[in-house]
Amino acid sequence: MAIILGIESSCDDTSASICINGKIRSNVIANQLVHKNYGGVVPELASRAHQLNIIPTAQEAISKAKIHKNDIDAVAFTRGPGLLGSLLVGTSFSKAFALANNLPIIEINHMQAHILAHFIVGENDLSINASTTSSPKKLVPDFPFLCLTVSGGHTQIVLVKDYFDMEVVGQTTDDAAGEAFDKTAKILGLPYPGGPLIDKYAQLGNVNAFSFPEPQISGLDFSFSGLKTSIMYFVRDRLKENPQFLAESLNDICASVQNRIVTILINKLKKAAKQYQINDIAIAGGVSANSGLRRALLTAADECKWEVFIPEFQYCTDNAAMIAIAGYYKFLKQDFIGQDVAPLARMYF
Ligand code: KG4
Ligand code: ZN
Repeated sequence: MAIILGIESSCDDTSASICINGKIRSNVIANQLVHKNYGGVVPELASRAHQLNIIPTAQEAISKAKIHKNDIDAVAFTRGPGLLGSLLVGTSFSKAFALANNLPIIEINHMQAHILAHFIVGENDLSINASTTSSPKKLVPDFPFLCLTVSGGHTQIVLVKDYFDMEVVGQTTDDAAGEAFDKTAKILGLPYPGGPLIDKYAQLGNVNAFSFPEPQISGLDFSFSGLKTSIMYFVRDRLKENPQFLAESLNDICASVQNRIVTILINKLKKAAKQYQINDIAIAGGVSANSGLRRALLTAADECKWEVFIPEFQYCTDNAAMIAIAGYYKFLKQDFIGQDVAPLARMYF
């Protein structure tokens, strides 16, 4: 029996989760609305909000899982990467909770956790390794698989060889894909986080209405800053011709921008799959909630004979369930860390 309390506080979501023997029993997320009007996360406001939210969020996760705090075997927490002030709250809470209850602590890399969210299977799902001819769809990917991890801070193609043996084989050289969505939204006058709004308006627009350039970056790396600049000049020039341009064409702009971001991502993923001869392909991170990306991945799966793995919506954006499941796999190895651990704004694997 292993009961893990997972704690996530790397950016602007405070989250706590209970994982019992590899199954998620609760996943409580407190969003911070305070950043909406600033066009991005304000670090100082984020850490203050984490301080307010962390104890009630953890309490709710424990009570929703119908356990007592004394039942917990270990505390897993996001050590990094992320905003230092935000990470400090989750790390300090986890250390204090563990110290008070005489528990071991487990450090988790946030980006690895996004990928390990693929190993969250429901209480009623069949065994992870079930593979019968009547149900060929696997519940989880086989190692090695490729994961496109796309969030507000990162864009990576990761070769996942084992739970904690991962290699970044491609990454952004400037902005992350989520940043490209959020910065476009800002140019269009939409509030933060803009990704979900662009997704919503894109569904009503024409993807071919406007054309934006695909950056020519070698290998498996990405670049999104040129796209952002071209969108900025495009909107500025069109507004000079027609002050109503944004109001009249918002859906079409969103559809065209989203389509460009998605094709950049999918084209690199195809290149990586070919290079590494891998057919199990996963996506993870906040941008994997994007409906255009999910659709494009399914189309690519048909075309390239991939088996694709797309997380449930609640496990795409930041959540502690992914920290708890990652913690569970480290707990099985008794991979603990000392109380002198400090958070890391940059953390590699
Ligand atoms: O993984 P995440 O919750 O936090 C980070 O670790 O960064 O990702 C947040 C990012 C934001 O940039 C947000 O705009 C984007 O994910 N996002 C989306 C969608 N939902 C969230 N982007 C496009 N379409 C969506 N539906
Ligand atoms: Zn994240």
